[in-house]
Amino acid sequence: MLPQGCFEHHVAIVTGGGTGIGKAIARTLGRLGASVVLASRKKEVLDAAARDLSAQGIHALAVPTDVREPDQVDALVAATLAAFGRLDVLVNNAAGNFTSPSESLTPNGFRTVVDIVLNGSFLCSRAAAKHWIGRDAPGNIVNLIATYAWTGAPGVAHSAAAKAGVWNLTQTLASEWGRKKIRVNAVAPGIVVTENAAKNLGFDDPKVQAALSATIPLGRLLSSDEVADAVAYLASPFASYVTGACLTIDGGLGLSRGLLGQAEEVMRRMEKP
Ligand code: HXC
Repeated sequence: MLPQGCFEHHVAIVTGGGTGIGKAIARTLGRLGASVVLASRKKEVLDAAARDLSAQGIHALAVPTDVREPDQVDALVAATLAAFGRLDVLVNNAAGNFTSPSESLTPNGFRTVVDIVLNGSFLCSRAAAKHWIGRDAPGNIVNLIATYAWTGAPGVAHSAAAKAGVWNLTQTLASEWGRKKIRVNAVAPGIVVTENAAKNLGFDDPKVQAALSATIPLGRLLSSDEVADAVAYLASPFASYVTGACLTIDGGLGLSRGLLGQAEEVMRRMEKP
């Protein structure tokens, strides 16, 4: 647990901050003292989230933004500075996703997800970095990716390719902006059941969740709050020498695809008396 107040006087933008993992990240950073700016497309969703966080004593501002639009992204940074006078952390969490056989994924479907995930992360990082570099101020970016950025996965050609791009962008920007005092890191969560992802990716069914849990060494799915803790760590001074890194939090899911393949079967055999 990071100490209370470790983000005191700091300001964080969380894209996709109105729902799911993004809202959990905003809440965690807020509880640790940050003022948070929630940015995504739907004003009513953002306003409700900002009200909810404010009721918990967190300074929260909703700024409706489509991260695919450069002008709107620049306006997001300007609104943050107008409201709070500073910007310290950017969390690129906004994403779009659905499953589709690749051969029937429409060009527009592919483009839309890549645009939100990859182009959106670039545009937001660029706008924040311009501000930091212009003031010689330190900055901190955390990108949400997925472990299928390096494994691939069936049915998500758009999202997996985009997340792979964001992971590469993380490393490129970390190497380019390190000397400008900007750290850039990534978090690769395993399976989190949030309303949007569960519905769109088909894990809203408890049977599917149980089957997925059985393949994970820690034996359960991940919570949004656990993802938020990892983001908070990377954005905090406890990670002051960490840049260009990816913190995978998948309960060991990636390991179970190792040499022995069906790890559960091996474990069952070992545990037989
Ligand atoms: C097939 C779909 C589709 C679906 C959209 N499209 N949803 N195709 N199945 N379920 C296609 C549309 O037909 C259209 O192509 C194109 O995508 C653009 O769709 P629009 O609705 O016009 O775009 P937009 O309003 O911008 O929103 C699209 C979207 C949204 C961003 C993809 O539907 C969405 O994703 N909402 C859910 C957000 C979400 O799931 N967030 C959690 C991500 S979790 P055509 O050709 O018809 O014009 C995540 C973590 C990954 O990413 C790790 C998990 C393990």
